[in-house]
Amino acid sequence: MAELRPAEILLSEAQIQKRVAEMALEIRKDYPDDLHVIAVLKGAFIFLSDLARHMPGHVSLDFMAVSSYAKGTTSSGEVKMVKDLDTALDGRNVVIVEDIVDTGLTLTYLQEILRKRHPKSLRTACLLSKPSRRKVEVTVDYIGFTIEDRFVVGYGLDFDEQYRNLPHIAVIQP
Ligand code: PRP
Repeated sequence: MAELRPAEILLSEAQIQKRVAEMALEIRKDYPDDLHVIAVLKGAFIFLSDLARHMPGHVSLDFMAVSSYAKGTTSSGEVKMVKDLDTALDGRNVVIVEDIVDTGLTLTYLQEILRKRHPKSLRTACLLSKPSRRKVEVTVDYIGFTIEDRFVVGYGLDFDEQYRNLPHIAVIQP
């Protein structure tokens, strides 16, 4: 079996850091006071950590973990909640932080369940978006980079749990 390795660098560390800093200020401009940021594990952990550190003032953070049921073989979009939030969302300005929006099924599910918890507002920030892969229309308010349909790793994104620690985003290929 051919080994898969990250080859071409799609987004450099400098490009990512610049864009993440811009996104943090943009989000903070929209929500200068109360802001509750929710990261979806595992992929978003590095993005969240850089994004949060670029946000001026005080923000609160929480984490949730989900896993897809039979990803790629179903269009149900049903995801299993592996770790729920620790705090309530009532009346809060909430921003969901995702590493990538691909088919849009995971995000659609997350937005549906979080909206039922009565936040004052609910927006989504994702580092990467692959619009050509969408199966459902979903609103993403803050997008770092729009990319083509290529398998990418690094900066939180994995292949078989590897490469999440890369500081850049690379395309993986045989
Ligand atoms: C990735 C990503 C999103 C989801 C996007 O998570 O973090 O949650 O896939 O895909 P979709 O738009 O097709 O639903 P993944 O299941 O790879 O888990 P991970 O974050 O733990 O790596």
